[in-house]
Amino acid sequence: MLIKRWKGWEIPEREVTPHSVYMNRRGFMRALAAGPILASTAGLAACGDESQAQDSKAVEQVAKAPVSDPSAIYYPAARNETYRVDRPITAEEDATTYNNFYEFGSHKNIWQAAQGLPIRPWTVTIDGMVENAQTVDIDTLLKAMQPFEERVYRHRCVEAWSMTVPWTGFPLSKLVEFAKPLSSAKYIKMQTFQNPDIAPGQRQFWYPWPYIEGLTMAEATNDLAFIATGIYGEPMPPQNGAPLRLAVPWKYGFKSVKSLVRFTFTDQRPVSFWEDLQASEYGFWANVNPDVDHARWSQATERVLGTNERVPTLMFNGYGEFVSDLYKGMDGEKLYM
Ligand code: MTE
Repeated sequence: MLIKRWKGWEIPEREVTPHSVYMNRRGFMRALAAGPILASTAGLAACGDESQAQDSKAVEQVAKAPVSDPSAIYYPAARNETYRVDRPITAEEDATTYNNFYEFGSHKNIWQAAQGLPIRPWTVTIDGMVENAQTVDIDTLLKAMQPFEERVYRHRCVEAWSMTVPWTGFPLSKLVEFAKPLSSAKYIKMQTFQNPDIAPGQRQFWYPWPYIEGLTMAEATNDLAFIATGIYGEPMPPQNGAPLRLAVPWKYGFKSVKSLVRFTFTDQRPVSFWEDLQASEYGFWANVNPDVDHARWSQATERVLGTNERVPTLMFNGYGEFVSDLYKGMDGEKLYM
């Protein structure tokens, strides 16, 4: 039998949404059993349509962080020039209105819905294999993480689109230092808030909420691993993961977990949200590699957000000089999915 294998660039982007169409079978059957719910998620197959009309005035007014954010005093921060990119910075309006944040919907146009996320009060729990488990108020934590810096990073989504944005924040290694992990800790598990009352997506019971991601200690203490608290020189708006999110630009975007409430140090490899849902397509490592196709599309090229341009994808998303050593001698691992 002849099976046509579509190349990524032949597939309309709405058909390459990896996350929702291919829910695991059990989840899918549960969804089927919930007929009316399934009807309301008919958009699951749509991967986001950039032509979605945007009222640019409304975007300007709402897509920014609330002015009352007490961390606004830390912006703008000086740029760290170690990490340069050879691409134009994505327009702010594009990066703040085309988002993946399944807690608020399984499509890209969630920025308005996400304004309902209350980012104060907010606490962050640090627990597991640490000297002293603690829960800290976000503003105490942010004060301890000063000075902030700005880093312009590429971001490559597993769905084969990309953007280049100026994040503000601090290296994850600084938070690791603050946490005082025990030497037995091998991984950090990072968890998003869970509150179905404000995040309607979390009522979709076939997803394994809360959103979890993980890194090895070596990855987490690599200087490139960044906790972003802001974007475009201002505090993070909710849709991009306020009040703090991960930015690991050498990995596919789903690793960059948003709106974090918990960091757990552990000797067990965390099972992430997408891995739990579809382990054959989304693994723990998820390092960008243009030569390793996704199960359903090519990863060779990417669509640059806000343009009609497709450009070649780079190994480790262009960050090989900083991170390739982390994976030496790990050939048995599925490093690129
Ligand atoms: N974090 C949470 N909690 N929920 C999500 O749905 N989506 C991920 C990642 N972090 C996601 C998340 C995916 S698939 C991508 S590509 C990036 O966030 C998108 O970040 P952006 O909206 O700032 O571009």
